[in-house]
Amino acid sequence: MDTASVISSLSSVKRQNFANDESARVHALGEARALMLRLQRPWERVYDMMWLDPITSVTAKISADMGIFSALSAQPQTSHDLASKTGTDGALVTRFCRLLAARQIIKEDDVDKFSHLEFSEALADPNGVVNGIHHHYDLPALYAPKAPAYFRETKYVNPTDAEHPPWQTLMGSQSFWNYIKDRPSVLSHFQKTLASLTGETGAWTEMYSPSHLLEGYDPATALCVDVGGGLGRDMRHLAEAIRDSHSNAKIIVQDQASVIDVSMHQANPLPSNIELAVHDFFREQPVKGARAYLMHSICHDWPDSTAREILVQLAKAGKAGYSKVLLVDGVVPEKGASPRTAQMDINMMLLFAANERTEKQWRALVEGAGLKFERIWSIEGAIHVVVEASVL
Ligand SMILES: C[S@@+](CC[C@H](N)C(=O)[O-])C[C@H]1O[C@@H](n2cnc3c(N)ncnc32)[C@H](O)[C@@H]1O
Repeated sequence: MDTASVISSLSSVKRQNFANDESARVHALGEARALMLRLQRPWERVYDMMWLDPITSVTAKISADMGIFSALSAQPQTSHDLASKTGTDGALVTRFCRLLAARQIIKEDDVDKFSHLEFSEALADPNGVVNGIHHHYDLPALYAPKAPAYFRETKYVNPTDAEHPPWQTLMGSQSFWNYIKDRPSVLSHFQKTLASLTGETGAWTEMYSPSHLLEGYDPATALCVDVGGGLGRDMRHLAEAIRDSHSNAKIIVQDQASVIDVSMHQANPLPSNIELAVHDFFREQPVKGARAYLMHSICHDWPDSTAREILVQLAKAGKAGYSKVLLVDGVVPEKGASPRTAQMDINMMLLFAANERTEKQWRALVEGAGLKFERIWSIEGAIHVVVEASVL
C-alpha cells in the first residue's frame, strides 16, 4: 500500500467501527498508540509528554473551572458568547479554546466559532469524567512533581513501609485518607471519579455473574457487603443485575463516615435495598456470614501485611463453605503490563507504599489471610479483574 492510501485508511477508522466488538476496539486502540510511538521522533515525544499534555491538562482544568464545557452547545458559538455566558474574558476564552480545539476536546466550526464534541459534552456533566480532571489537580498534580526530589533524598530505595509512605514526605500530611476526609471537595471529586470510571470500565457483574452468588443463597443472610464501597457504584450494578429476581436481597455498602455522608446525599440515590453503614475495615466485621464480601480497589491501597489484616476480618466474619470474598482490582501480568496498570502501581507506591499485584501475589495474599484462592475472573480489555476466594 502506498503512503497516501495508508493515511487515508487510517483516517477513516473511528470508535463507531467497533460498536459491537469491544475487544477489537481495545486492540485497535493499542495498535494506534503503538503506531504513534513508532512514527514520532524523540523530540516530538518529549514535546508531547512534557509540554503538550501538561499544558492541555492545565487548560482543560481552567476551562472546566470557568464553565466553558457547560456553556458550549451543539450550535457554534463565538468566544465572546462563551465569555458572556460564563462571565469571563473573551480574549482568554479564545486562547484556551484554540488549544482545546487543537487537541480535539472541542470542535472549531469556523473562525472563532466553537461547539461540542462528544468529549466536551461528557466534560460538561458535573458528576462525570470532569471529576478526573479536578481530582488530578486536587492530588497528583501536588504530590507527583515532588517525587524526583523524594527519591533522590531516599537514595532510590523501593518504598514498602506503609507507616511512612512517600505521600507523608510529599504532602506533609498524616495519611492520604485523613487528608481527603478533611477536604469535602477533594473527597467528592475522588469518589465521583471512581463512580464515573465504572461507565468506562464496565460493571464487575459482567466479569462475575451474580448467579454464582444467588445459587445456594440463604436469604436470611446479606447477599453482598461492599467493604470500603465508596459511593456504592458496584452494589448499584449488583442491585440492577438482580432486580427482577431478588429485589429485596440485603446489600450493604460500608465506608468511612465522611464517605457515607457523601453517599447519602449523592444526586442519583442508591436503590432502596442497599444499606449504608459506617465501618472501619481494620475492625471486626459486624455483618457475619454474608454470601459475599466485596472489596474494589482496596487491597491495592495497602502493602501485603496491612491488606492481609483487612482480609483476615472478612475471613473471620464469613461462614465456612458459604461466604465468598471478591476482590475487584488490577492484576499485573508477569510481562507486558499495560501503561495504566504500570502507572497505577507507581501511584500506589507514592500514596501508600503499596503496589498492584500479579496473580501469584494475589494468591499469596489471599492464602496468607486464611482464605481459599478460587480463581480470577476477567474479560478482555477490562482494567480490573475479580479475584474470587472462599471462606474456609
Ligand atoms: C480507592 S477507594 C475505592 C472505593 C470503592 N470501592 C470504589 O471502587 O468505588 C478506597 C475506599 O476505601 C475507603 N477506606 C479507606 N480506609 C478505610 C477504612 N479504614 N475503613 C473503611 N473504608 C476505608 C475510602 O474511604 C475509599 O472509599
